Amino acid sequence: MKNYSLIEKTINPFNNQIKVSGDKSISIRCVLLASQAIGRSKLYNLLESDDVLNSLKSVGKLGINFKKIKNYYEIDGFGLQGFNTEKKVVLNAGNSGTFARLILGLLVDSKNQITIIGDKSLSTRDFLRVTEPLKQFGAVLSSKNKSLPVKILGSNFLRPIKYIENRGSAQCKSAVILAALKASGKTKIKAKKSRNHTELILKNLGVPIKITSKKNFDFIEVNGQHNFEGFEYRVPGDISSSAFFIVLTLLSKKSKLIVKNINVNKSRLGIIKILNRMNAKIILKNKKKYKGEIISDILVKSSTNLKGINCPKNLNSSAIDEFLVIFLAASKAKGISKFKNLGEMNKKESPRLDIAVNFLKKIGIRVERKKYDIKIYGNPKLKLDGNYTVKRFKKDHRVFMMSCIAALTLGGKWKIYDTDSINSSFPNFLDLIKKLGAVIK
Ligand code: S3P
Repeated sequence: MKNYSLIEKTINPFNNQIKVSGDKSISIRCVLLASQAIGRSKLYNLLESDDVLNSLKSVGKLGINFKKIKNYYEIDGFGLQGFNTEKKVVLNAGNSGTFARLILGLLVDSKNQITIIGDKSLSTRDFLRVTEPLKQFGAVLSSKNKSLPVKILGSNFLRPIKYIENRGSAQCKSAVILAALKASGKTKIKAKKSRNHTELILKNLGVPIKITSKKNFDFIEVNGQHNFEGFEYRVPGDISSSAFFIVLTLLSKKSKLIVKNINVNKSRLGIIKILNRMNAKIILKNKKKYKGEIISDILVKSSTNLKGINCPKNLNSSAIDEFLVIFLAASKAKGISKFKNLGEMNKKESPRLDIAVNFLKKIGIRVERKKYDIKIYGNPKLKLDGNYTVKRFKKDHRVFMMSCIAALTLGGKWKIYDTDSINSSFPNFLDLIKKLGAVIK
């Protein structure tokens, strides 16, 4: 079956309003926490992508029933000790680093050995970053060359730990918080700021979790072994999925877009802050609070006068999944943009920093790189008319989607492989972009 997309025409001006699918980070956390609740949870607008469906199937393998009813998922949990881990089970996380790392946190008390496997891309990613702290609780973990498959055998006597997370990784922080739910006593975490959805959901559920926020770090204390009840959650739209549409609009002519109902939690807002510093005039409208999160509509218009940015490092974590499209905006900006310390980009579904640098060079942009710092020499007049092929990017959904935005805004004839990669995070990406007028074959 054909698994590439052809784009040979830039998108015509559009003025529209869209709704992107549910937030991936929140969807996976909701599934995991519902699996630990006592009783029934109802999850509305859950993202129905492979990463989330694999999470549901995996908790199903651990004895948790779930079912889709109309527009929500029902999940029946049996409390913090409700996983059935009597048998040796293999869980397939597919492409999802978030699910694979977070579920390990919930398996620190497994009675038998559980094995986590994943697809080709996930199987090359670093798991030592979670297996090491989880061992300190008392669980037994082993991995193959620091990566998947990871095997975990839990312990009955889980001690609370002290943990310092200094990569700005929400996955590492969350894996430890979830393990802390099972330990007796208080786990103390000092974590470089990163997305805080796990903390907010737990707080909302009445779990004893205390968060003290300082400039660059959060201090988190979790008191373990407190059960909580089933809950209802309406998952807001994903800012990481919106990012592609925001940059599409910025770089298109005479266009305007409203992206409805997006989670704009400060720990995810890097893309808006960075683009607005570059002169974009993105506006957040109809802001409201929901269970500790902030939700709003995002209004964006074409911009013809983007300027370069010296991007502060402390925005890195809050834009970590968005740099691919931010770099695209920087390519069309006037002046030089500087980004520093982006080593974590290379730890994602593909080595994104390496891929981005090659991509930009291929489209004629001057890029200077020193280890994990890059300088992009923007060219507001950038227009392409050659033939471009994008392939061998480890089926990284975000590389695919960024390439589509480049093709639809810069010109040229593009063949972009691995269309099915979008199923990880944003299965209706192409439908939505076609709704705006894009011609993609
Ligand atoms: C995520 C955290 C980030 C992000 C990923 C989702 C999460 O990863 O890149 O797409 O849901 O916690 P790291 O924690 O590895 O930075």
